[in-house]
Amino acid sequence: MSDSVKLYYQGKEYEFPVVESTIGDKGIDISKLRSETGLITLDVGFKNTGATKSKISYLDGDLGQLYYRGYPIEQIAEKSTFVEVMYLLLEGELPTQAQLDEFKHNMNKYSLVSEEMKHLLKGFPRSAHPMGVLSSLTSALTAFNPHAVNVKSEEDVRRAATLLLAKFPVLCAWTYRLKLGLPLNYSDNRLDYVHNFYQMMFRFPTEDFHMDEVVVDALDKLLILHADHEQNCSASTVKMVGSAHSGLFASVSAGVSALWGPLHGGANQAVIEMLEMIRKDGGDLQKWIDKAKNKNDDFRLMGFGHRVYRNFDPRARVIKKVCDDVFNKLGIHDEELDLAKKLEEVALHDDYFIEKKLYPNVDFYSGLIYKALGIPTEMFTVMFALGRLPGWIAQWKEMRLNNEPINRPRQVYIGSPKRDYAPIKDRK
Ligand code: CMC
Repeated sequence: MSDSVKLYYQGKEYEFPVVESTIGDKGIDISKLRSETGLITLDVGFKNTGATKSKISYLDGDLGQLYYRGYPIEQIAEKSTFVEVMYLLLEGELPTQAQLDEFKHNMNKYSLVSEEMKHLLKGFPRSAHPMGVLSSLTSALTAFNPHAVNVKSEEDVRRAATLLLAKFPVLCAWTYRLKLGLPLNYSDNRLDYVHNFYQMMFRFPTEDFHMDEVVVDALDKLLILHADHEQNCSASTVKMVGSAHSGLFASVSAGVSALWGPLHGGANQAVIEMLEMIRKDGGDLQKWIDKAKNKNDDFRLMGFGHRVYRNFDPRARVIKKVCDDVFNKLGIHDEELDLAKKLEEVALHDDYFIEKKLYPNVDFYSGLIYKALGIPTEMFTVMFALGRLPGWIAQWKEMRLNNEPINRPRQVYIGSPKRDYAPIKDRK
């Protein structure tokens, strides 16, 4: 027999079913709450609210676990590739060799971006933030691919997803090339996804191009680690927009904007800016730790804390190792990396951070790797977006295939009760 919970309100008893999970939080199905009791729930920031049932990824904040379709992130990061992870998230299972080959072949088919998109790109000043440019270009894809996605057709959904996966790295690389005033590179379909992205970012027309496998491997791992994170702010944004049956590209464009914020993906940029600021200020770590703890000070230790992880962020552990590997193999010594390690050490032993369970998150070390690879700070969140794309698409697809209704929260109104309009001469 399945569980239920009882609610007592104004002398009456109401019963609501408990929705079972495979692992982790169960939910109370309150879909009849308002019609039966006249009440709604109030949960600002959705800290306790499950918005959907999902099979894509799972995270346990207390144990610091993250699974993609059931596979632990540590295994995936060690053994898989980003392309395989894209397939896994979208299709639900790891691909056979034949399925993987077909998936790659289809992505290559769509990798050309319309020349007219370049006019749009050139309309942006070089000072434009790459995330703003990326969001605009992603939205503009709709104009160049107006064919609406029929969600009842598996073929249609797959085509739209593949098209976006194929063109998005080109758009990401182009935002970078715009920033540096470099000629735009095209996709080279002889290469795999990550090598291809690498050459679109860094190849110069004037010289031979050598791909450093240490860098390619680090990029692949970073993309894997960012690929999905269940109902996070940007994925929920993609679904919110998509729930109105707006197209996939428009929905993902909104997701890019949500990711941009410093409390979400923008934290990787904010971490480097913070480390630079601390270094230039003389490197007194305790001063900045004290500022982060001070309620009257807006400063927060960027790259620390997470809405769900209250123990450690498993992605941060893998990234820290990748970070050490990259710096050792490339023979780079970086003052900000030293500072980051010291800051982590101080914070992890500080009562405030221990009590509030604030640990380094995925963004604490990722920016240091991007910096070591020569990627400008403002591009860091674009790198996050490229990684998160398969997750956004998988979440969008699941929501549409489940035929979920338009997302439309309610509110507890605390404004003025009804009152009559006053002519301007009577106002005080
Ligand atoms: N530095 C100092 N204090 C903090 C920090 C921090 N980084 N994060 C949380 N706190 C404090 C906060 O002041 C609050 O204190 P109190 O209970 O006294 O009011 C308590 O910890 C709980 O914080 P919260 O803001 O209510 O928690 P949240 O779940 O709403 O926010 C967070 C989570 C990630 C937005 C927040 O920890 C934060 O702002 N971190 C810094 C930004 C950051 O690194 N973001 C990247 C998140 S991981 C990548 C991603 O998934 O996008």
